[in-house]
Amino acid sequence: MKRLNSQMQQDGAPLELILLIRTLLAGCKEISFRVSQGALAGVLGSTLSENVQGETQKKLDVISNQILKDILKESGYVKAISSEEEDDVVPCDPEGKYLVSFDPLDGSSNTEINSLIGTIFSIAHAPQWMEPNDPAAFLQPGSQMVAAGYVLYGPSTMLAMTTGKGTHIYTLDKTHGGFLLTHPNVQVPELTAEFSINASNQRHWEPPVKQYISDLLAGEEGPRGKNYNMRWVAAMVGDVHRLLCRGGIFMYPYDKREPDKPGKLRLLYEANPMAFLIEQAGGLASTGAGRIMEVMPEEIHQRVPVILGSKDEVEACLSYYD
Ligand code: F6P
Ligand code: MN
Repeated sequence: MKRLNSQMQQDGAPLELILLIRTLLAGCKEISFRVSQGALAGVLGSTLSENVQGETQKKLDVISNQILKDILKESGYVKAISSEEEDDVVPCDPEGKYLVSFDPLDGSSNTEINSLIGTIFSIAHAPQWMEPNDPAAFLQPGSQMVAAGYVLYGPSTMLAMTTGKGTHIYTLDKTHGGFLLTHPNVQVPELTAEFSINASNQRHWEPPVKQYISDLLAGEEGPRGKNYNMRWVAAMVGDVHRLLCRGGIFMYPYDKREPDKPGKLRLLYEANPMAFLIEQAGGLASTGAGRIMEVMPEEIHQRVPVILGSKDEVEACLSYYD
C-alpha cells in the first residue's frame, strides 16, 4: 500500500510542506496514543478553565493543543499558529514559511463516551511582511490554503487530507506508525438521502432551514419524493468523515440562540479545512450566502454557518435561501 509521503510527492507538494505535514502528524500520533489511554491515564474530564470561545476545556483539549504547539514551534517550518484553544496567535519561527490553524480536538465532549473525536488542521503560506505575532496574516480566505485535513481518532486512526490535488484517506498502521493510503481520491456521491443537523435547535432556525428540513422529513410523500435518513455524531470530524465515505449533507446553520454570532462552527479551524476536503472530493461547501472558502475572515476566531456535502443535495438546500 502506498505511503503518505509518496502520495504527497505525486501530488506535487513542495518538500518543506511535506516535512511540515509529517511533523504535524507526528503530533497527531501522540494525541491518538493519549486518547486511546483514556481513563487509564487520567486524561478524561474537564479542566476548570474556559477557552476564548467560552467553552469549558476538556483535559484532552489542553493536552492536544500543547502537543501540537510544541512540535510545530520546534519544527522551524511554521511562522505562527492559530488554535481554537488559544486566545491569540502563537508566534513561532520568524523564518517559518507557513501558518498553521487547528482545532486540536474536535468533538471533545465525545471523550466522555468513548466516541469519535479528531484533530482538524489547515496550512497556508506566511506572508513575508508578517511579524510572527500578527493575527492579520491569518485573515486570508480559505481559497489560499495549501493543505488541509483531519485525523480521526476512531476504531482506526485515519487521516483525510488534501494538498489541492484531490482528497485522500489514509489509515494509521499502528504496528510501524505509518499512514497508508487506503482510500485514494475519494469522491462524495452527488446524490444522497442522508442528512446531519442538530434538530434540537429547530425552533431557533431561520425559515429557509426550517422549510428545507421539514421537506426532507416529509419523505416520499413530500416535495423531495424520497425518504431520508438522519445521523448526528456531535463531532464535525465524524460527520464529515461519513460524508467523504458515503455522501450526505451536513449543516450547522445560523440560529437565533446567540443572535450576534453567525453560527457555531469556526471558520479557520473547522469550516475552511472541511470545505477544502469536501470540494476536492467533488462536493460543495457554502454558508448559505456563498462559498465558505471565499469568506474573508475578520478575526481569527470568527464563526460561520456551514452547509456542506453531496453536490446535488447542497444545491437543493441552497435553493431555499434564494
Ligand atoms: O467543535 C464544535 C462541535 O463539537 C462540532 O464538532 C460538532 O459538529 C458540533 O460542535 C456539535 O454541536 P452540538 O453540541 O450542537 O451537537
Ligand atoms: Mn471543534
